[in-house]
Amino acid sequence: MIQENTLSQAIQDLFGNIVFQAEPAGLYDPLRYMIAIGGKRLRPRLCLLTYGIYQDTLGPHILEPAAGLEVYHTFTLIHDDIMDRSSLRRGHATVWKKWNEDTAILSGDVMCIDAFKRIAQAPAQVLPQALELFSQTAAEVCDGQQLDMDFEKREHVSMPEYMRMIGLKTGVLIACSVQMGALIGGAGLTAQKALYDYGFNLGLAFQVADDYLDAYGDEKVFGKPIGGDILNAKKSWLTIKAEELGAAGVAQALNAPAVTEEEKTAKIARVKALYDSVGVADAAKETIAELSARAIERARAAELPAEGLAALESFAKRLVGRTF
Ligand code: IPE
Ligand code: IPE
Ligand code: MG
Ligand code: MG
Ligand code: MG
Repeated sequence: MIQENTLSQAIQDLFGNIVFQAEPAGLYDPLRYMIAIGGKRLRPRLCLLTYGIYQDTLGPHILEPAAGLEVYHTFTLIHDDIMDRSSLRRGHATVWKKWNEDTAILSGDVMCIDAFKRIAQAPAQVLPQALELFSQTAAEVCDGQQLDMDFEKREHVSMPEYMRMIGLKTGVLIACSVQMGALIGGAGLTAQKALYDYGFNLGLAFQVADDYLDAYGDEKVFGKPIGGDILNAKKSWLTIKAEELGAAGVAQALNAPAVTEEEKTAKIARVKALYDSVGVADAAKETIAELSARAIERARAAELPAEGLAALESFAKRLVGRTF
């Protein structure tokens, strides 16, 4: 098994030395920028973590696919920030704000292609499965992103509909990352599936936590503007739960126009007061903990050595810990 400090160093080297084509700079500079401003690198970390349960040495056959997962994720963020009109990402200006929307679209496109090139460096004997897993996942993320936007326009979205949407936009890529490491590491199909389920449930917990932090987080730590989901009238876990718990006027408060900075601040405060009136924040924390516990439960079916399972457990606990 590969130890955590080795994996951390590998991640640091991988993204510190990542190379994108030099020219045209107008196309590739945003890629360099997005990688340079950091992020948690969760997906490559999970991929290397599961690989490291099965193997003892790293090499380009796993590092390139791991980088591909992060590059793909970062591409989705570039386009997501146009769709969500978000000005801040990883504590810095978003690509469409720093350059413009046309640049964000095309740099995003080429970044998505770059991700496929890196995934394609998986070892020949698992390459068909790696490409199938990744392309299926990449398409599902788009399905989820479309549902996310469709829901903004809908009056009512149920909790099962919301969970399906976040499973697609967020769960599947985290699940794919966990499975990719196991696949390249040489795990059997049963273990791969159990690990996919671990990642999927962890991804659900992660997106509920993201929704929670979007309203209750600290902008300096979160790296994104607080209240963005409220201003976009997003059907987040918080809005759906508030309605379930009987808070009156959530939809109305969410759809109220807010143009000036004062109006925006007042709208965020009004919606949060509705959340608070029915205890949504505590309910979110409970659900995050439940989903994370379910993730660990699912990982058991992979029949990993105790050290491997403990590493997955500690990863899940750390991820959930950021909400508390
Ligand atoms: C943001 O993902 C998008 C969601 C799925 C919530 P991360 O929170 O992993 O973003 P970075 O990569 O750390 O910036
Ligand atoms: C993230 O959804 C999903 C993807 C980027 C695929 P969000 O819109 O909640 O992500 P953030 O909050 O902007 O990071
Ligand atoms: Mg979004
Ligand atoms: Mg967004
Ligand atoms: Mg969010």
